[in-house]
Amino acid sequence: MTLATPPDARQPAPTTEAAIRTRHSMRAFLPTPVPRATLEAVLELAAWAPSGTNTQPWKVHVLQGQARQQLVDKVCAAHDALRADPSLAQTYRDELGYYPTEWISPYIDRRRENGWTLYAALGIGKGEKDKMHQQHQRNYRFFDAPVGLMFTIDRVLGRGSILDYGMFLQNLMLAARAHGLHTCPQAAWNQFASIILPHIGAEANDMLVCGMALGYADPQQPVNDYRTVRESPAAFTRWMD
Ligand SMILES: Cc1cc2nc3c(=O)[nH]c(=O)nc-3n(C[C@H](O)[C@H](O)[C@H](O)COP(=O)(O)O)c2cc1C
Repeated sequence: MTLATPPDARQPAPTTEAAIRTRHSMRAFLPTPVPRATLEAVLELAAWAPSGTNTQPWKVHVLQGQARQQLVDKVCAAHDALRADPSLAQTYRDELGYYPTEWISPYIDRRRENGWTLYAALGIGKGEKDKMHQQHQRNYRFFDAPVGLMFTIDRVLGRGSILDYGMFLQNLMLAARAHGLHTCPQAAWNQFASIILPHIGAEANDMLVCGMALGYADPQQPVNDYRTVRESPAAFTRWMD
């Protein structure tokens, strides 16, 4: 007996399982615009995420056209300036604290494997710092996706709301698959929140959660063939009777 062919990652995913299995972080997008009605349908579906006491902590900023390009220009310039003068790092910080300040195994091992495998897929070797900088900067171009999303949350909310937010983001990424779209969630933007928050007109008490690239993945770009691996449930599950 042969197994069914895996679903084509470029096609819309009509079932939940196909949506989950074909969601990958894509890092090269076509310039094809995404219809407004499609974006609205994706956001409407995402909004059905659960949240503690139905607080619905998500606030979404959709950047297209000039609003997107002007943010790209500002943050790319800041990213270049930071490379030229690393002391500027004090100016730029991720308020959410998405990543730990101290890494331990096995997380650091997975992180390293992820980074080096991605760079290898792009033909970037260790020590090729210019190429690494350029590749990292593709984050700040939304990997050429025509739609850039910024997600903010009111600082008054607790840590649980970040959990709710994750469910909303996953809903959004799966809903995108149902429309033939792909995504890349992006914490890379967080460092530049002091540029992003005023640009998107965020409310005074809002914090940046992350950004996201959204659009139609470019099937010609090898970077989009990069696939990550997962531990099996046996490795992270303890059964108790
Ligand atoms: C909240 C969040 C932030 C992320 N930030 C970035 C990012 O800034 N740049 C990037 O290329 N990938 C980013 N990723 C993608 C992860 O590297 C990716 O999800 C992980 O390696 C698993 O691969 P997959 O998404 O293809 O399954 C982020 C993922 C999440 C969930």
